[in-house]
Amino acid sequence: MTRPRSKNRALFFLFVAAFVVLVLYLLHTFEGSLKDTFLHGTYSSPAAEAQAGESFRMVMNIVRLVLWMSLAIVVVRALASLIFGTIFRRRRGYEAPSLIRNIFSIVAYIASFVIIFKQFYPEVGLGALFTTSAVLGAIIGLALQDTLGNFFAGISLHADKPFQVGDVVTVGTRTGVVESITWRAVKIRTFANHIVLASHSSVSKEAIEVCPRDNLNARLVYFNTLYTDSPAKTIHIVREAVREADNVSPKITPIVRIRNLGESGLEWEVKYWPIDYAKYNDTDALVRQRVWYAFRRAGIEFAFPTRTLHVERKSKADAAQTDGSGFIERLSAVDIFAPLSTEETARLAGASISHIFAPGETVIRAGDEGASMFVVHSGRVSVQLSDNGKPRTVAVLNEGDFFGEMALFTGEPRAANVVAVEETEVLEIGHQAMKHLFDTNPDLVDSLSHIIAERRVGLTAKPQSAENGEVESEGIISAIKRFFGFD
Ligand code: CMP
Repeated sequence: MTRPRSKNRALFFLFVAAFVVLVLYLLHTFEGSLKDTFLHGTYSSPAAEAQAGESFRMVMNIVRLVLWMSLAIVVVRALASLIFGTIFRRRRGYEAPSLIRNIFSIVAYIASFVIIFKQFYPEVGLGALFTTSAVLGAIIGLALQDTLGNFFAGISLHADKPFQVGDVVTVGTRTGVVESITWRAVKIRTFANHIVLASHSSVSKEAIEVCPRDNLNARLVYFNTLYTDSPAKTIHIVREAVREADNVSPKITPIVRIRNLGESGLEWEVKYWPIDYAKYNDTDALVRQRVWYAFRRAGIEFAFPTRTLHVERKSKADAAQTDGSGFIERLSAVDIFAPLSTEETARLAGASISHIFAPGETVIRAGDEGASMFVVHSGRVSVQLSDNGKPRTVAVLNEGDFFGEMALFTGEPRAANVVAVEETEVLEIGHQAMKHLFDTNPDLVDSLSHIIAERRVGLTAKPQSAENGEVESEGIISAIKRFFGFD
């Protein structure tokens, strides 16, 4: 929009300049005839005629001076439009600040006026003019102290270049987009579409926050969730919801993180990078909206100031049976517990404790002592050995698989690390609960010992003959019996 306008303006000024040149040329060509026209007639004396001729010359000089000065004005304006409106904009991509434009124009006007004036009146000393005007200047300077202060603050601000047209700035309590930089003030359009004129001297005194328009500036949006909602799930849901919103830069993945463990819930922040920072208000609102919809779909709840009162009346076993957590179903689907009666499974579910682990968290550490085993209720874990300090995955266990039985049944230290691959819920079953089961289900020892023998093979990764496997199982059976005090 502005580019053709400044180009047209430059063309218009050049056209006017051509017109003035033509008038000057005509004046020069027809000066003789003009003189004859104006001075014809009779004069009382030759002195009167000479006087009239001198007057004519003076008038012509003034007319020419005015024409030349007009020409200078028009040329300077044409040049300013061309340099700052067209060339500057094409090179830099934004309009030149009017402060620079004004300084250029003032210097160019003064220089051309002095040169033209000297051509017409070489005998007049301009030095004297400046000396006399120095006193006047001091008086005007005192009167315009504030204005001049702003002017010079503007020049120093300009040399510094802390911001430019189009940047989002916060000066004091006002935030908005820099619309122009005049010789006196910075014009800021706030997000309420108000214009704020911040004088250069006040801007140079304050701390200014600048978000350059050609830079990816980050935004933070806050929200809260209930403690019962899983952090890993929330991170995933919010990240996906935000990265798809309009004006969110695809160059950097939004960061979702817990800011604080607050009174009413988890306090979160999501950091994203708007493509056009000047539209951050709309984008923040859109981000909040997207998070709301994503939460609705995923069943995640926003936290608001609440107090949760927990009243525990049931025994754990009853609770597990009726609270819909699915522990009984989970345990009854585990191979080794298949022979158990419904009551035994329910009792086992009641005695088991649920734990939740974030992706990457260690559930079991190799070498630790262990007095319990675990069943994967949801998620996945990987069984890892350390090879020269680097983890090597031996097996991945899914929902319904169990681990930790080796240390529990043999009393040996944990044979491997077990790490959650994704968010994982495990049910922990202690030594005492298993001891009860062995009393009523002696076959359990057999099936467990076979599994332990197989897993040991997996750990050493050495091929083993069927015969060796049998010998190993026998050894494990007697180790289990000894450990549980059956022998
Ligand atoms: P524990 O030794 O108590 O702790 C580490 C656990 O990793 C171990 O019990 C087993 O439950 C499990 N584990 C070890 N080796 C394997 C394997 N090869 N396959 C599956 N699970 C294993």
